[in-house]
Amino acid sequence: MENILVNPAKMIKGSIEIPGDKSISQRAIITGSISQGKTCIKGFLEGDDCIFAIKCFEQMGVRFEKRGSDIIVQGVEMYGLKKPSKELYFGNSGTSIRIIMGILAPQDFESTLTGDRSLSSRPMGRVVEPLRLMGADIAGSGGGNFAPIIIKGKRLRSITYRTSVASAQVKSAILLAGLYADRTTTVIEPLKSRDHTERMLSYFGADVHVEDLSISIKPIDRLIAREINVPGDISSAAFFLCAGAILEGSEIYISNVGLNPTRTGVIDILKRMGVDIEEEIKEQGYEPKGDIICKGVKNIKPFIINPDEVPSVIDELPILMVCAGFADGISVIKGASELRVKEADRIYSMQEGLEHLGIKMDIKGNDIYIQGIKTGRSCKVKSFGDHRTAMSMMVGALRADGPVVVEDTACIRKSFPGFEKLLQQVVVEK
Ligand code: S3P
Repeated sequence: MENILVNPAKMIKGSIEIPGDKSISQRAIITGSISQGKTCIKGFLEGDDCIFAIKCFEQMGVRFEKRGSDIIVQGVEMYGLKKPSKELYFGNSGTSIRIIMGILAPQDFESTLTGDRSLSSRPMGRVVEPLRLMGADIAGSGGGNFAPIIIKGKRLRSITYRTSVASAQVKSAILLAGLYADRTTTVIEPLKSRDHTERMLSYFGADVHVEDLSISIKPIDRLIAREINVPGDISSAAFFLCAGAILEGSEIYISNVGLNPTRTGVIDILKRMGVDIEEEIKEQGYEPKGDIICKGVKNIKPFIINPDEVPSVIDELPILMVCAGFADGISVIKGASELRVKEADRIYSMQEGLEHLGIKMDIKGNDIYIQGIKTGRSCKVKSFGDHRTAMSMMVGALRADGPVVVEDTACIRKSFPGFEKLLQQVVVEK
């Protein structure tokens, strides 16, 4: 088991770039695979989740080439995938397994999708249900709610579907399936989730129409390969922004990071906490990107996150809980139940970790209350195999009164290979 010891820090300072966005990197592999021509992906995230996505498409006959840090996908077009000779293994990647179901449902072969223990306990019914309404033949454990998932390719019909949770993975699976359906497919979300799939499919030539919370897609014969520049992942940048926020005197500059408005909730919340943070969009492109500068102030204010804000910070809630742990009062996060079904139960994992640091977190229904303190305690905490819990606890450790050991940190490679090194690079020791 890999453990990391983190010492308290005075502040963080520096100018950094962050590895590529995980959501966009996975979508680039998926979209590139079913397009006509070569898709060159620049700034690709070489995290475990993205590598699993590549391996799965390789099993279906797609060829990938590494040129320096670029990945070239030799697309096989929409109906060119081959029946995999064995199970497709997605490791720990909820995004890949769920989204790819939308592409496998209309193929003319059978496929079996599996993953590790954590992935096999995460709900798949939310994707299986709408795909079945489109005519897909999908079986799986627990009536199709859990992997292994077995998909027998079928012709699909279009649907109009209201998702019960704001999930970009569910929306994306339906939209991809919609490319293969007989007419226009529409997804209506309860709240806006990240829109990377809509953006990328339009960029590759699909006819996507967005009206507020409703997204429609027309069937198409061919997607055309494009070059993709993956911006830095704002969810990974958040660990540095929040480290800066909780350490007075910090100054951190992050360039070339994704600033898609469906993902930037963390910046808004840090502003509400009184942190001196500014973002600037430098390029609109198919995905907006730019720079962020964040300076730590003396006392950070507690915050309230309402349920309608949750989708825009869903992956940043663990690190925001750490910020709340050092704010001047009680912070509240409302409607956070989706955290229960991430790579770990992140309400449980963070409650336990924060408690070890000496921070009290109360849970009432789906709402979380965190009482801020001045300094954390030296302790040993678990990652629960969850990358974001591990990195959040490492950041919390910077404001402890002694060393903190974070156990089982190999999971960090899922989204942020090189995190420990980059953190060391900017830490100013006490
Ligand atoms: C993701 C969507 C979110 C997010 C996950 C990545 C995506 O999950 O938590 O890390 O790339 O579509 P949900 O769709 O379950 O909200």
